[in-house]
Amino acid sequence: MDIIHTIAGLREAVTKQKLAGKTVGFVPTMGNLHEGHITLLHEGHKHADFMVSSVFVNPTQFGEGEDFDSYPRTLEADSEKLQAAGCHLLFAPSAEEMYPAETSHWATVQVHDITKDHCGADRPGHFDGVSTVVSKLFNIVTPNVALFGKKDFQQLAVIRRMTKALCFDINIVGVETVREDSGLALSSRNGYLTDEEKSIAPLLYQQLKLARDKVLQGDNNFAQIIKDARDTLTSSGFGDGYFNICNSESLDPAASQDTSFVILATAQMGGARLIDNIDFER
Ligand code: PAF
Repeated sequence: MDIIHTIAGLREAVTKQKLAGKTVGFVPTMGNLHEGHITLLHEGHKHADFMVSSVFVNPTQFGEGEDFDSYPRTLEADSEKLQAAGCHLLFAPSAEEMYPAETSHWATVQVHDITKDHCGADRPGHFDGVSTVVSKLFNIVTPNVALFGKKDFQQLAVIRRMTKALCFDINIVGVETVREDSGLALSSRNGYLTDEEKSIAPLLYQQLKLARDKVLQGDNNFAQIIKDARDTLTSSGFGDGYFNICNSESLDPAASQDTSFVILATAQMGGARLIDNIDFER
């Protein structure tokens, strides 16, 4: 697996593959890779001949007071994992390469409506940073297919809309969340949890499943379902967060006549902001 740090070098390597008739798959990451990322790579092999991954801790998607400085940078271990997963090319640019001082404030990408609630409300500007960096990466890598985890359900929805609205000729594939046996969704931020917090954290997914089951049984009192889940989480030691029952297309609050649902949840657990969701049809 080649590791390339410059945009020019990456373009040259990808062009060579395309001229040889290969299709290109892409898994963008911020590193500190776990089994969830590796699953994206494996899934990518089903869709494309040549797999590219990026490791870039994108400064523009972190808000003030968030963990940009402490976010684990583990490039050596990440490249070993990617190589073992059959990744062909790793793009690991510097911040200066991605955002040269001269051009960094010239343009940003903003996806409307679907970014206003949930993580968008909790983390102002976060999705502008994500959609800007992902569109830059799409323009650099020019993949045929790009893979994203469903754990960040709102992010996936934002990227799908951005891809459609800006006419990127890229097939966006959402991949199921990988979980520990306890049900806890794998996340690069789980490393912030103490052993005790890690034993409580799976309750978030248990509450998502419980709420889903209530909706599936025909309960339309969404406000009460949400309150019960939040109360349970709070009394079990979770901090601030949201627990929102939504229409899975618009991410607006669900209505009783909806057929496609997603419940989006986040909750602070010690030093980690856990995020998870469950989607289903009724
Ligand atoms: O999901 C992530 O790791 C990041 O938000 C992404 C998509 C790599 C953009 O920086």
